[in-house]
Amino acid sequence: MPESSAVQRGLQDVVALESRICFIDGKLGRLIYQGYDIRDLAARSTFEEVAYLLWYGRLPNAEQLADLKSRFGQLRVLPEPLVELIDQLPVEANPMDILRTAVSALALFEPEETKPGASSIGGAQRLTAVLPTILGHFHRRRRGLPALKPHPELSQAAYLLYAILDSTPTELEAKAVDVALILHADHELNASTFAARVTASTLSDLYSSVTSAVGTLKGPLHGGANERVMELLDEIGTPHRVEEVVKAKLLRHERIMGFGHRVYKVEDPRATILRDWSRRLGEAKGDLHYFELLGQLEEVVHREKGLYPNVDLYSGSIYGLLGIPNDLFTPVFAASRVAGWTAHVLEEYQDLRLIRPTAKYVGALDLPYVPVGQRV
Ligand code: CMC
Repeated sequence: MPESSAVQRGLQDVVALESRICFIDGKLGRLIYQGYDIRDLAARSTFEEVAYLLWYGRLPNAEQLADLKSRFGQLRVLPEPLVELIDQLPVEANPMDILRTAVSALALFEPEETKPGASSIGGAQRLTAVLPTILGHFHRRRRGLPALKPHPELSQAAYLLYAILDSTPTELEAKAVDVALILHADHELNASTFAARVTASTLSDLYSSVTSAVGTLKGPLHGGANERVMELLDEIGTPHRVEEVVKAKLLRHERIMGFGHRVYKVEDPRATILRDWSRRLGEAKGDLHYFELLGQLEEVVHREKGLYPNVDLYSGSIYGLLGIPNDLFTPVFAASRVAGWTAHVLEEYQDLRLIRPTAKYVGALDLPYVPVGQRV
């Protein structure tokens, strides 16, 4: 029999590798990117600065930042064959499936990035720049609108909104999305980043690694939770129904999306910042419906189950107020996390060891082989 060993289900508390990119203090509710507290970054920096920080390990000076912004602007254009491919995909498809397919296909049109050893910050910048164009192009197509013309001047946040909504956002709208992008950009060894690193650890290329990550982010226990939060709010409808709906779900042992976290034992610091932005945007738009429902939901879930909100609780209310459709919430998450995925993949290449854990075998052994004709 194989030696018995303790299994850490879900790899909980397993320290899989060393990283300089992101630190989570789950007890104190702190999130740090390359040494900088997320609260400072959300209040004072931009997504471009944060992407640079994740890739290079330091904040950019003015010239480096201007250079990155201009590169993002240039790298937003899709290869024509990819546009044609997206145009053939079903309009009713889940946008995360479109994104996964498009990232994978993009590699075919940019073969120099997929050669062994070629994966670089250039590839990371290309993927980060282009994801909003993919989303915008697909979303326009399913609404019967002509192809998106990338806008080279806008910030990533403003461009993301422009690509999806077909109009230039206000400063407040762009800042709300910029903060959301900063907060989602990295989160240590979350499932999709781990998937990306596992792929990279086989010496596969950056685009394959990001394809793995997109597929992993899609799941409702990970990036897909923000969409489910909005479905829950619509199911609840009015604040006085929160208690009844939550209790019924908990009785059926259903999970309340947007609550709980593997690492945080207190409130997720990203939720604290997004709560504030949900209120600010709601006030600016004269619509606090979702903000009020969420406050009530927090109160009931904490009382009944002792759970704290995570990043996905308030993000959907912000995206919804901006007019982003529910099924693009997780793709918007991906448009930010791609900076973290690629930073981790590049770090993996620097300190490479094939990620290959073992399983505790609990199946049968030594079964006699019965020829097919003699099996019952
Ligand atoms: N609603 C109800 N019960 C919950 C929830 C929840 N949201 N989260 C955890 N629990 C309960 C769970 O049922 C279990 O209870 P019991 O011990 O009585 O069976 C206990 O808490 C421990 O749960 P677990 O699944 O072992 O804990 P985990 O560390 O694997 O869970 C989680 C982490 C995020 C998967 C989980 O909290 C969850 O399913 N949350 C809802 C989905 C969600 O909001 N996901 C977004 C996560 S943050 C952003 C991201 O990473 O993408």
